[in-house]
Amino acid sequence: IFKYGLIGSFLGIVYVSYALYRESNPRKQTPQSATFENGSKRKTIVILGSGWGSISLLKSLDTSQYNVIVVSPRNYFLFTPLLPSTPVGTVELKSIIEPVRSIARRSASEVTYFEADALAVDPTKKTVHIKSVGEKDYETDLSFDYLVVGVGAQPTTFNIPGVDKYSSFLKEISDAQDIRLKVMNSIEQAALLEQDDPERARLLSFVVVGGGPTGAEFAAELRDYVDQDLSKWMPSISKEIKISIVEATPHILSMFPQNLIDYSQDLFTKGGIDLRLKTAVKKVDETTIYAENRDTKEMESIPYGVLVWATGNAPRPVAKNLMEQLGPEKQNSRRGLVINDKMELVGAEGSIYAIGDCAFYPGLFPTAQVAHQEGDYLATVFEKLHKIDQLKFANESINDANKIKSNNTKIDKLYKKIDKFHYHHYGSLAYIGNEQAIADVTVNGYSFKGAGAMTFLFWKSAYLGMCISLRNKFLVAMDWCKVYFIGRDSSI
Ligand code: FAD
Ligand code: NAI
Repeated sequence: IFKYGLIGSFLGIVYVSYALYRESNPRKQTPQSATFENGSKRKTIVILGSGWGSISLLKSLDTSQYNVIVVSPRNYFLFTPLLPSTPVGTVELKSIIEPVRSIARRSASEVTYFEADALAVDPTKKTVHIKSVGEKDYETDLSFDYLVVGVGAQPTTFNIPGVDKYSSFLKEISDAQDIRLKVMNSIEQAALLEQDDPERARLLSFVVVGGGPTGAEFAAELRDYVDQDLSKWMPSISKEIKISIVEATPHILSMFPQNLIDYSQDLFTKGGIDLRLKTAVKKVDETTIYAENRDTKEMESIPYGVLVWATGNAPRPVAKNLMEQLGPEKQNSRRGLVINDKMELVGAEGSIYAIGDCAFYPGLFPTAQVAHQEGDYLATVFEKLHKIDQLKFANESINDANKIKSNNTKIDKLYKKIDKFHYHHYGSLAYIGNEQAIADVTVNGYSFKGAGAMTFLFWKSAYLGMCISLRNKFLVAMDWCKVYFIGRDSSI
């Protein structure tokens, strides 16, 4: 057994090393060009965004069939499911990002990337106006044959006064860094004050508004950090820290079945997380949250030292602008760009597609799972559109009526083959703290609903498997080992 174990480990190390080497040393790519060898036009696809939807599309797309341009202000892909683990250092930020350029370099043909914001799309002229990110503003227009809008969403504040100014969101890397800084500063400032000073209690009150998965997972991570690490280095202060979740509805994690909600709420309460349910925040100032109890209609004041706002999504300006241009008859959802069952933007069918959180289609929710599948689906659509284009081009240069007829039949068949998008819901997972997770999943027809430590192992292996590169998987696994053996960092 020892001998085979040794050989197995050796082969495993060789395989992983080779795979990591291959990943960081991409092969030669074919250059972009205006036309193909047969003289037909090589069409341009502009992809906006570098998130779940856009990167899934880029990874699945045969880039030798198109000139592909990616535009995103974020020059990396962010593995959001592990973002709630980063403010407290369970997972390091560098471990869950993958540069767009390295993803682009691994595709068959050259992909152009511009680090820029898309400001406006002109659906008639088929152009997108972009502005560079950085100190100076460089602006330009890009022409496209097909545009894929995958710009995601921004955190919603429901225009509640004070939210934008005083709270932190949890959507981007910079948000995680901001929360970490605020938590550490609050703790260090509180340490300067007397124990009976109400200001000390305020500074040590960490409030999460929104009991959806973002808010609940972050509160769970924060509780872990306080219990497992801060308690070792600042035992007295760690006992004074109060973590609260303020949630407008009667439950947190409402996407899960009731028994898993009950299990999570019980674990949170036992762990000392104050669940303020049926409580809707109405106003925020520098030190206090003002919320209405939905039963009694009374207003409550909740002092806070750090406020994390996680109440869901709102459309980004570029998406709103596009919706306005296409008009309320075509674009009539406040949740995002209305698309049809082939991901085409209603009002700009055939040229503009929208995927992920920026898009709205009944029954599809703003999750990574949906965005990922939509990106993959769109790659298959573009493959068929390329074949159709090639057949149309062939028809232009031949005089044989039978051949043209046969090509037209093939074209019709290919159009028919562009199936509607079918979403496969594999279920939901959430980390609830204290090395426990909940799962409501269905894989290959088998469904599993569970909670606890074993589910946490399942959660870990599922998320490790979903990481976009081997490098990410390796780094995340190392981070988890580090936390297990030597704990999280207690400084910035
Ligand atoms: P995003 O991934 O948000 O990407 C949008 C991209 O567009 C970004 O690269 C952004 O920089 C870029 N962009 C923005 N504005 C512009 C512009 N003007 N021009 C060009 N580019 C632009 N879902 C799950 O299924 N499971 C989970 O466990 C899970 N965990 C999550 C945890 C957190 C903390 C958060 C915030 C979300 C989580 N989600 C999860 C939801 C999931 O992250 C989103 O549904 C998913 O990211 C949507 O993918 P997307 O491509 O539409 O948008
Ligand atoms: P969400 O929309 O899922 O939850 C927001 C919560 O905030 C709701 O429960 C809502 O009732 C509450 N809320 C709204 N306004 C409020 C107010 N004024 N006061 C108090 N509470 C208020 O948003 P979240 O968690 O940011 O998730 C966004 C998307 O990302 C969802 O589709 C979610 O499924 C997905 N996601 C999935 C994860 C997972 O599968 N583990 C993890 C994180 C996000």
